[in-house]
Amino acid sequence: MKFFIDTANLDQIKEAQDLGVLDGVTTNPSLMAKEGIKGAENIKQHYIDICNIVDGDVSAEVIATDYEGMIMEGEELAALHPQIVVKVPCTKAGIKAVKYLSSKNIRTNCTLIFSSGQALLAAKAGATYVSPFVGRLDDIGTDGVDLIAQIADMFNYYSFETEVLAASIRHTMHILQCVEAGADVATCPLSAITGLLNHPLTDKGLEQFLADYNKLNS
Ligand code: E4P
Repeated sequence: MKFFIDTANLDQIKEAQDLGVLDGVTTNPSLMAKEGIKGAENIKQHYIDICNIVDGDVSAEVIATDYEGMIMEGEELAALHPQIVVKVPCTKAGIKAVKYLSSKNIRTNCTLIFSSGQALLAAKAGATYVSPFVGRLDDIGTDGVDLIAQIADMFNYYSFETEVLAASIRHTMHILQCVEAGADVATCPLSAITGLLNHPLTDKGLEQFLADYNKLNS
């Protein structure tokens, strides 16, 4: 299971990278806006800055919604850095763009996936990753993790190479549920990743070890 961090915040990306378990980064236009990154050149520079912090894949999302615009933007983003994966929404134009970009050996992340049918089309078009949105499905009373399991089963059955990138992860339990469901990657807020560390017995055990050491050594 790979961990990506789902943010455009450079401090959080550095913190996750320093932890030594980070495999990549996902961004989207909302996450870029949250960091106040605006203007085409600043946005491109920010992607390069992210690539210079992490070792793995960095998803950069196209803004265009038409096929020609998507492939033009996708080629520009891919040229920024070898770690860039072009993120394309799962629309009719998006699927065509994924097909075109993969034929040019440009890696893609097909995003805004909410059904196994959408994931199937993206995989057939040659997407490197599909991003089903777990939290947003949970928000409307549908089981987001169930969709991860359905897509993982389908990809295994048909031996698709496309990886299942569980997105819209909101908390630590989502990560553990996605592991069981067979996700290849989870893209998470930093708090969900560090949440995996927490256990009261670890804290209690460490306290006891130190108390016993100090009894004899102080
Ligand atoms: C990442 O690829 C997605 O854009 C992101 O996980 C969406 O998360 P949200 O539903 O919390 O906005």
